Amino acid sequence: MSATDKVFAGSIPKIYDEYLVPMIFSVYAEDIARRVAARSPTALLEIAAGTGAVTRAVAAALPREVHYVATDLNEPMLAVAAQRQANDDRITWRQADAMALPFGDAEFDVVCCQFGAMFFPDRVRAYGEVKRVLKGDGTFVFNVWDRIEDNVLTHEATIALAKLFPDDPPRFMVRTPHGYYDKSVIKIDLERAGFRDIAIETRSEISRAPSPEYVALALCQGTPLRSEIEARDAGKLQAATDLVAAAIRTRHGAGALDGKIQAIVIEARP
Ligand SMILES: C[S@@+](CC[C@H](N)C(=O)[O-])C[C@H]1O[C@@H](n2cnc3c(N)ncnc32)[C@H](O)[C@@H]1O
Repeated sequence: MSATDKVFAGSIPKIYDEYLVPMIFSVYAEDIARRVAARSPTALLEIAAGTGAVTRAVAAALPREVHYVATDLNEPMLAVAAQRQANDDRITWRQADAMALPFGDAEFDVVCCQFGAMFFPDRVRAYGEVKRVLKGDGTFVFNVWDRIEDNVLTHEATIALAKLFPDDPPRFMVRTPHGYYDKSVIKIDLERAGFRDIAIETRSEISRAPSPEYVALALCQGTPLRSEIEARDAGKLQAATDLVAAAIRTRHGAGALDGKIQAIVIEARP
C-alpha cells in the first residue's frame, strides 16, 4: 500500500460523502445495518466509519438504549460524519486506528466495519484487536469490495486513467479498495486472529449516478486516487477527471447511468 492510500483528508471527505457514498456505499450500509440490528447489540463499535454512511443506517435501525462508538483513523472523515448525523446521545465519535483499538477487552456485542479492512496494513492484527474488544458471544460484521472487474465504473475509470499516465498508471483502486477479495485469504486471516465461526458471501448490487461527470468527480476527487493523480501532475487533476467522464460517457451515454458493483460480506464469531 502506498502512504497516501489511507489518507482521507483535504477536499476528499466532503466529495466522498456527497458523491461516492450515494453512488456505491449507501446500498451496502443498509445491508450492514440489517445484519447489525439482527444481533440486537447493546454495545456496538464501528471501525473505519468514514463519513458515517453505516452509522446513519445503523442508528436508524437500533433502539434508544444502545451505546454506539463510531471510530475512524482520519479525523476529517469523522468531522463530516458528526456534522451529518442528527444529535444522537447514543453515538460517540472517536479517532482510532483499527490496529490499536483504544478500548478494553470484551466491551462490545458487535463490531462493524464497511469497506475498511482493505486499508489496514496488518489485517490479522486488526482482526485480533476486534476479537479482543468483542464479548465471547459477539459478532464481527464487515465487508470488502470484490475484484475491480466486478465493479464496472471503477474499472472503466482505472483503464481510462492509464491512458493519461501510460508510464506510471494510477493503481490505487486496484491495489487497495479492490485488492483484498480472496475469500480463502480473508478466512485464514480471521482464523489467525482467533475467529472460528465464519460466514462469507458475495453480494452484487447496482450503482446509479445522474451523469458521467458525477461518476468521474466521485472517483477521481473523492478518494485517495486524487492524491495519486496529483502526485503525478497536480495540474492534471481536472484533465484526469474529464478524461474519466469522457470514457464513461462513451460506454454509458451522456445521461443517468448504472453499473454493477460487487462486495464480499463477512460475519465472524470467536
Ligand atoms: C472506503 S472508506 C469507508 C468509510 C465508511 N465505512 C463508508 O462506508 O463510507 C475507508 C475508511 O477507512 C479509514 N481507515 C484507513 N485506515 C484505517 C485504519 N488503520 N484504522 C481505521 N480506519 C482506517 C479511512 O479513513 C476511511 O474513512
